[in-house]
Amino acid sequence: MSKLCIQGGNRLNGDVIINGAKNAAVAILPATILVDGISVIDNLPAIKDVEILNEAMRSLGAVTRTIDEHTLEIDASTVYQYSALDDCVSRMRASYYLLGALLGRFGKAEVAMPGGCDFGGRPIDQHIKGFQALGAKIEVVDNVIKATAERLVGTRIYLDVVSVGATINIMLAAVLAEGITVIENVAKEPHIVDVANYLNMMGAEIKGAGTDVIRVKGVEKLHGGKYSIVPDQIEAGTYMIAAAITGGDVRVCNIIPEHMESVSSKMREMGIEIQEGDDYLRVIAPKVLKPTNVKTLPYPGFPTDLQPQMAVLLTVAQGVSTMVEGIFENRFQYIDQLKATGAKIQVEGNKAIIEGVPELKPAHLKATDLRAGAAMILAGLKAEGGETVVHNIKYIDRGYESIEAKLSALGASIYRKTAQ
Ligand code: UD1
Repeated sequence: MSKLCIQGGNRLNGDVIINGAKNAAVAILPATILVDGISVIDNLPAIKDVEILNEAMRSLGAVTRTIDEHTLEIDASTVYQYSALDDCVSRMRASYYLLGALLGRFGKAEVAMPGGCDFGGRPIDQHIKGFQALGAKIEVVDNVIKATAERLVGTRIYLDVVSVGATINIMLAAVLAEGITVIENVAKEPHIVDVANYLNMMGAEIKGAGTDVIRVKGVEKLHGGKYSIVPDQIEAGTYMIAAAITGGDVRVCNIIPEHMESVSSKMREMGIEIQEGDDYLRVIAPKVLKPTNVKTLPYPGFPTDLQPQMAVLLTVAQGVSTMVEGIFENRFQYIDQLKATGAKIQVEGNKAIIEGVPELKPAHLKATDLRAGAAMILAGLKAEGGETVVHNIKYIDRGYESIEAKLSALGASIYRKTAQ
């Protein structure tokens, strides 16, 4: 088991380059199943979740070729299987996209119930509602979701919950369906727009991605092409917070600054200076961080995937802050870990009340999930006077490319220790 060892207290300085978005990548790889030709996907992050999906695509029959570390060529015309029951795939959340893509391509799909980070119940009823509305029959047998449809026919679907996964999944199933599908009350995250852009470039007719209503006009087939994935908003936010918590001055590069507006606004409220360039944000930490109140919401609100990292920053603000989790029922499991650093946090339902402390102390911390793991690293970067060790980093490797190398290049003292 590997762990990350951090000597906190170093100010971070310099430039960090952000990779392609994990949540776009894990949707676009399954989406290639709908394409009758070769997709070349560029700016793919080199992370575990992408590796797992690449393997999954191969086991379905796709021919994939690594062009370079961030570029993969996928010929999905050879996919012959509609059943994805591999244990590895079922442990990740994004495996549900195989359902929409395989159903769209074959009119049949069998996928194990998705796993992923545990934030309490994560139902997929809205995905299922959408597939059923398109004409699919759905059965869940022994934790496997089975979808079948003689033909998929476009219709109007209203999502009862704003769901990223359901929005993309229904879009995938609708691309090759007959007629027009209108999906209402959809999520608007940048990766939803990215998946729609990819599919449109391959010949789909999707309008409205990024607004509350998406309209998909079914087409006969999609053709191959080359597509570059959007920068990762969550990775960018994590490095912005790393700069702020260490009293640093960092340019977070290769990003779309508009995607970061909710994060930049909250950081500015804390007294952090943020300078905006065309494709970067420069984050300059103040001497004293002011407290603030944050609530996570669907995009363009503050992202739930930055909730743990932001909470760590609030632990060292001067005064009392609140963090309300507005998306998931239980995304505060990491707080017990954080308390080991001397952070003062009290959880009341979906609200954390955070009383700022002048400093954090080094501790042994466990990554309880992907973003919580990043938050533990941030706490370690702040904690002076000894070594913070972050355990269970397999979660972090699922979603962050070369995190210790990037932080080291900015001046952090962090290294990976792999047990023999
Ligand atoms: C995706 C992201 C995850 C992010 C989350 C919210 C991927 C692979 N994962 O997860 O990183 O934290 O969006 O931005 O892109 N819900 C239902 N029924 C459904 C679907 C969702 O009730 O059928 C609820 C969920 O329990 C949750 C809320 O809707 O409370 C939002 O979930 P959703 O947007 O679907 O999240 P995921 O797609 O799981």
